[in-house]
Amino acid sequence: MVPSTGYNKIRTAVLISGRGSNLKSLIKFSRSSQSPISIDFVISNKSKADGLNYAKKFKIKKKILNFKNKNLSEKKLLSILKINNINMICLAGFMKILSKNFIKKFKGKILNIHPSLLPKYKGLNTHKRVLNNKEKYSGCTVHFVNSRLDSGKIILQKKVKISKKETVASLSKKILVQEHKLYPKAILKVFNL
Ligand code: GAR
Repeated sequence: MVPSTGYNKIRTAVLISGRGSNLKSLIKFSRSSQSPISIDFVISNKSKADGLNYAKKFKIKKKILNFKNKNLSEKKLLSILKINNINMICLAGFMKILSKNFIKKFKGKILNIHPSLLPKYKGLNTHKRVLNNKEKYSGCTVHFVNSRLDSGKIILQKKVKISKKETVASLSKKILVQEHKLYPKAILKVFNL
């Protein structure tokens, strides 16, 4: 990707489905002078996603696309991205799978964060599966999105140690703290910064 200079930040959309804590951390990062991206659009597939409040708070345009008809929602999404000159997409807790066709149109420009040390534990209920398997470590991964679930090229990972008394809630909290640091770092890495 072409690095940005000065005020010419890469216009980015963040796609969410829920709480939006990664969205919040990305917005904060995007407003720092070191950030190569600006966040100009938030898309949610859920009308009640708490994360939408951050779009409001930080005065960022937002739109709900329910993805019940994936084809139609992706068409609308593409048109929003085009009209708003968006050049990069960050998935942040977005729980829908984008089609091959859509991904092809934004090849190499869609990033995702996943709460495991990929390629281990792709998909849902990550922390529960990690604990059931008595893993000693887990973590989080930022990767490029390709047409297979949680499978694109890995950009950065952060490992965390699992304690003896770890629960799904404590592990998820511990990893989330790291996610908020890892996503901005991965974006800097993508732009060779
Ligand atoms: C985060 O833990 C993120 O890694 C995960 O959803 C959570 C969203 O939290 N994403 C996935 O599991 C994607 N496969 P947030 O809405 O507070 O950012």
